[in-house]
Amino acid sequence: MKGLVRKLSEKRSLEAGEYRSLLVCDDDEVIGELHEAARAVARERFGDSIWIRGLLEFTNICCNDCLYCGIRRSNRKIARYTLSKDEVLECCARGYGAGFRTFVLQGGELPDQSDRLIEDICASIRKSFPDCAVTLSLGERQDESYERFFRAGATRYLLRHETRNPDHYAMLHPPEMSLEHRLHCLDRLKEIGYQTGTGFMVGSPFQTYDNIVEDILFIGGFRPEMIGIGPFIPHRNTPLGKYRAGLVDHVPANVVSLTLKLISIFRLMLPDSLIPATTALATLAPGGPDQPGGREMGILAGANVVMPNISPPGVRESYSLYDGKAASGAESGEGLEILEERLSRIGYRISTDRGDWSPREN
Ligand code: 5AD
Repeated sequence: MKGLVRKLSEKRSLEAGEYRSLLVCDDDEVIGELHEAARAVARERFGDSIWIRGLLEFTNICCNDCLYCGIRRSNRKIARYTLSKDEVLECCARGYGAGFRTFVLQGGELPDQSDRLIEDICASIRKSFPDCAVTLSLGERQDESYERFFRAGATRYLLRHETRNPDHYAMLHPPEMSLEHRLHCLDRLKEIGYQTGTGFMVGSPFQTYDNIVEDILFIGGFRPEMIGIGPFIPHRNTPLGKYRAGLVDHVPANVVSLTLKLISIFRLMLPDSLIPATTALATLAPGGPDQPGGREMGILAGANVVMPNISPPGVRESYSLYDGKAASGAESGEGLEILEERLSRIGYRISTDRGDWSPREN
């Protein structure tokens, strides 16, 4: 088993069955070595810097109806909102003052008529904050829309593929959605020139270890600049809200440690990639005053990005992707000192650089 960690470190890839063995491995010594190897690679590339991105939950209106997601179209129990351009710019100004140099506009899938608003917002952010990067995370859109947003100044796009297995994809999404279209969008984003992020949920309903291996192989081939991995957390007002969380292959799994393993595997496969310690991970493992939480554990497993919430506090409740989503303290733009303090305890610090993807020769 330890040979696998060494092989992955050296070759940056494994055979499907070898990835599977690592995923199911419960030998603490091996897991410790995996995290250590990944952490060393991240340290070597990024030092003690953790990049921060201000996450702006731009809208919870969504045309789609994903079976796991709290802002799905059919959930009538939330108040819908879209931030105005002025509100977005105000959040950016506050975020800029706090030190953020990347703004991530995340939201549901708005109708195409909203393209002009999105375009205008991208251009306005770039104009008001020329030294900042704009990342979009607005789901599947027309090819032309992606092009327009890019021309308006957005240079990064996050679109998780959610699962690389078409049958599994169909269990998580309504019939009008397809994995094929999701993958098409990812290809287009890359072709247009976005730094592109993808990823998936760990422990999503009906997921198997073989599915996760398919996700790993896909990410190894696609080579995204950013990789977002977080545990699935049920949302009560969704069709999958009653699904028992924490199962893989229908048996209980520790999805926090599985997420951490995956962070390490991806760090070793794609050393330059930008990997956040996600809010979902911090939500499932909040930690305590003297106990590292999911965010810190993610970093110690090789993550190098955190994305605190800089949305107007009044809308945070309505952007409920899953139950209990953390949006305060170290998960919020107002809580940067808390974050700084928590990071310093594990030997890291916040970097306010833009933190663009920059590949190294080796
Ligand atoms: N649990 C965890 N993550 C979720 N997301 C959506 N719903 C959930 C959930 N119930 C994730 C999806 C999406 C991202 C914005 O949030 O992976 O891509």
